[in-house]
Amino acid sequence: MFQIDPHLLANALAILAYLVAAVLFVLSLRGLSSQETARRGNLYGIIGMAIAIVATITLTGPDPSPLLIASIGVGAAIGGVMATRVGMTQMPELVALLHSFVGVAAVLVGYSLQLAASKHGGRLPFKELIEVYLDVVIGAITLTGSVLAFLKLRGSVSGKPLLLPARHWFNLTMFAAILVFAVLYARDGQTWALAGGTAVACVLGVHLVAGIGGADMPVVVSMLNSYSGWTASAAGFMLGNDLLIITGALVGSSGAILSYIMCRAMNRSIWNVIFGGFGADPPKAKAGAVAPPAGEVQDIDHATLAGRLLEAKQVVIVPGYGMAVARAQHAVRELTDLLRKKGVNVRFAIHPVAGRLPGHMNVLLAEASVPYDIVLEMDEINGDLPDTDVAIVIGANDIVNPGAEDDPSSPIYGMPVLQVWNAKLVVVNKRSRAAGYAGVDNPLFYKPVTRMLFGDAKDAIEKVVAALRAS
Ligand code: TAP
Repeated sequence: MFQIDPHLLANALAILAYLVAAVLFVLSLRGLSSQETARRGNLYGIIGMAIAIVATITLTGPDPSPLLIASIGVGAAIGGVMATRVGMTQMPELVALLHSFVGVAAVLVGYSLQLAASKHGGRLPFKELIEVYLDVVIGAITLTGSVLAFLKLRGSVSGKPLLLPARHWFNLTMFAAILVFAVLYARDGQTWALAGGTAVACVLGVHLVAGIGGADMPVVVSMLNSYSGWTASAAGFMLGNDLLIITGALVGSSGAILSYIMCRAMNRSIWNVIFGGFGADPPKAKAGAVAPPAGEVQDIDHATLAGRLLEAKQVVIVPGYGMAVARAQHAVRELTDLLRKKGVNVRFAIHPVAGRLPGHMNVLLAEASVPYDIVLEMDEINGDLPDTDVAIVIGANDIVNPGAEDDPSSPIYGMPVLQVWNAKLVVVNKRSRAAGYAGVDNPLFYKPVTRMLFGDAKDAIEKVVAALRAS
């Protein structure tokens, strides 16, 4: 009778499962590219990962040890608790921390292969030495870079860029040292050469991220996302796992594309980000440059704003990080519904780095059921702002800072912003005159066209809604 070799069968099933998982990951990325399909995209990703984990445990290698199963259980429980507890505004920190896990896993797997080989006095074959070295070095850069990004985003470490005088030479020297250790490791397969490369890569990871700060942090996070993908891919080569290679390449390339898109949106050079502050010297103030903003701000109260909104035909709402903190999106949607019912054309203007994670504002507005077709990107709406009667800025700051356009001494100079000051009236809602994420003052507050509506965003918008209902 025809007999099937169980190993061959397991192998064939594993290949099939990996293929299905890979297709689901591609569908997941495709789904995540638009708000309407994002939930489905997430589901595909979850199913793909579940298939990948089960297939790896049951179909490849020896029988799974209880320790492995228990570790997966503990990891899944911790991940579940973290996911339910984390606030939307803490997402970038969590993402940065998770990138560091990819880095640490890659380093540990690389060392386990190296130490297993050297324990018996042997050395890994040349091809594996290259794979281990690449995996460990990229993993170490990702690990320390992500930990520093996590601390910066959390506010535990200053967000200001560290710009050492000879930092480019420092980076180049570290790249050269990593290459030297690579040659030594590939020649002799000694653990000390791998350790040397790892130590330099750890310092490089810190230095690359330390050179970037303030408003450029979102690009760093997406760049580290890309690094974590390449790390996983390198680990896939090292372990001979096709799915890890594919998944890592998907994450690596999508992270790189996202970084490129964000760099373009922020008018930053991608090399600047990769080489950690390359060319990021704070620009010197030119003679006759804009003086630091000073002067009085003008307030507006809820009832007066409600009256101005009722007279308006065109209203643009600019949400920012403060709207997320205050969870004001539902009050904002209520305001939008009321005004639309009264015949006012209300639209939303979304800056590519508003909030603290890509698409942050879109997610919040979608959650509050704001129709997608009135939510516009910065480039789509900036040209309409001169014809706008009232622009309401809700908890946003850096993304509406005119200094980005006209103050060469500003750290955010060159970043495209929403030109709300071109509207007939700008109302800025925030709790104080405090600076935004980049730590720079905002001359918008002092412009004659601007009125400040001080207070927590949810509370302030609810009061405007109440005033509208009462009128
Ligand atoms: P920010 O510049 O951070 O300004 C947000 C403002 O919200 C603050 O000035 C704060 O002023 C106000 N605020 C805080 N809590 C509030 C509340 N409860 N009610 C009302 N206002 C409140 O935000 P933005 O304009 O959205 O710009 C985003 C910044 O974050 C950019 O610099 C960007 O580069 C950076 N960043 C973005 C990302 C991504 S991917 N989007 C990731 C990391 C960093 P008060 O304290 O006076 O209220």
